[in-house]
Amino acid sequence: MSEPTDVTIPTWMRAIVQDEYGDAEMLRTEQVPVPSPGPGEVLVRVHAAGIDMGVWHLMTGRPLLLRLFGFGLQRPKLRGRGRDLAGTIVALGAGVEGLQAGDVVFGTADAAFADHAVTRADRLLAAPRGVPLSQLAALPTSGSAALHGLRDAGRLQRGQRVLVIGAGGGVGSFAIQLAVAAGAHVTAVCSAAKAGLARSLGAEAVIDYRSETLSQAIARGVERFDLVLEIAGERTIRELRAATVPGGAIVLAGGEGGGSMLGGVAHQLRGVLTAPFVRQRIVMLVSAERPTDLAELAAHLVAGTVVSAVDAELPLERVPDALRRLARGGIAGKLVIRVSDDPVDAE
Ligand SMILES: NC(=O)c1ccc[n+]([C@@H]2O[C@H](COP(=O)([O-])OP(=O)(O)OC[C@H]3O[C@@H](n4cnc5c(N)ncnc54)[C@H](OP(=O)(O)O)[C@@H]3O)[C@@H](O)[C@H]2O)c1
Repeated sequence: MSEPTDVTIPTWMRAIVQDEYGDAEMLRTEQVPVPSPGPGEVLVRVHAAGIDMGVWHLMTGRPLLLRLFGFGLQRPKLRGRGRDLAGTIVALGAGVEGLQAGDVVFGTADAAFADHAVTRADRLLAAPRGVPLSQLAALPTSGSAALHGLRDAGRLQRGQRVLVIGAGGGVGSFAIQLAVAAGAHVTAVCSAAKAGLARSLGAEAVIDYRSETLSQAIARGVERFDLVLEIAGERTIRELRAATVPGGAIVLAGGEGGGSMLGGVAHQLRGVLTAPFVRQRIVMLVSAERPTDLAELAAHLVAGTVVSAVDAELPLERVPDALRRLARGGIAGKLVIRVSDDPVDAE
């Protein structure tokens, strides 16, 4: 492991940890040893960390299906939580190339809600100059999901009519902007409280799902869509199809409905099983964060074609509050955890 000479790495740090699956009461702030980077890994001093529904799933261990994917059957295998981050590299493990101590970076780790986080070097990218780290910390998971949903699963084309359902949240706020940047016409489905945000991000029209269903909107003359990105997961496949032109695409990103075993995956599977028998292309989104896509997303931030719609920044100790707010659906866009206020060069 190599370290810069002018940075002293402490022995202990604050970290948000949990020993049992459960709600936000399971989380606590603890003093834990600062981890050491192994081969191919780096140690990052975390400045800001992002929050998304994936963190909530790992905290609760729900849907139960996810526990089969190596996260721990009875209790979480990893005590730390938090995935998206932006910060400064302070130490490198053996064999890391292309990055050095002092580099300001963003990307993902497995325990980002902490003063320091160890992660594989290939999960990080150099932070572009001039972009605040809170903007970068909000980007990786939600931005990647929006990009993959539109570009890869949805095969979005310029000029298409796109419906983003769940538009006021993390994935949705990026999806509106990425679709607009690709030359699409976007209609957002969200609660009235988030209509202003959706319009400010580029949506041409908004459907408030609490006062009008999708079917009612189509019945009153709203034109059908070429691409429907369903992030909230609450509409039937029949209703989604009725809102999509023949030959159009329906991308099922998830949602929080469904039973305790499958959760939103049940809705996705229903769609996939229906797909061979209908005239729309129905696709289940399974997104992952890839460096090339993070670079594309960061380029949008630099160009100003996308912003991370940060609702609020909270200190590390308030991670449990942040996750409660996320679960209640009360966040317009993204929440960011401000871990440190140290001045950072890339900003
Ligand atoms: N498949 C994948 O690879 C992938 C990747 C990332 C995320 N996801 C999933 O995508 C979902 C959203 O994630 P997120 O991080 O964007 O969550 P989020 O920030 O909580 O956003 C969800 C949004 O949906 C809105 N909403 C709730 N019920 C709705 C309904 N019936 N109709 C329309 N909008 C509704 C909520 O606000 P309002 O009710 O106020 O409008 C909220 O803003 C989660 O289930 C997550 O697990 C899947």
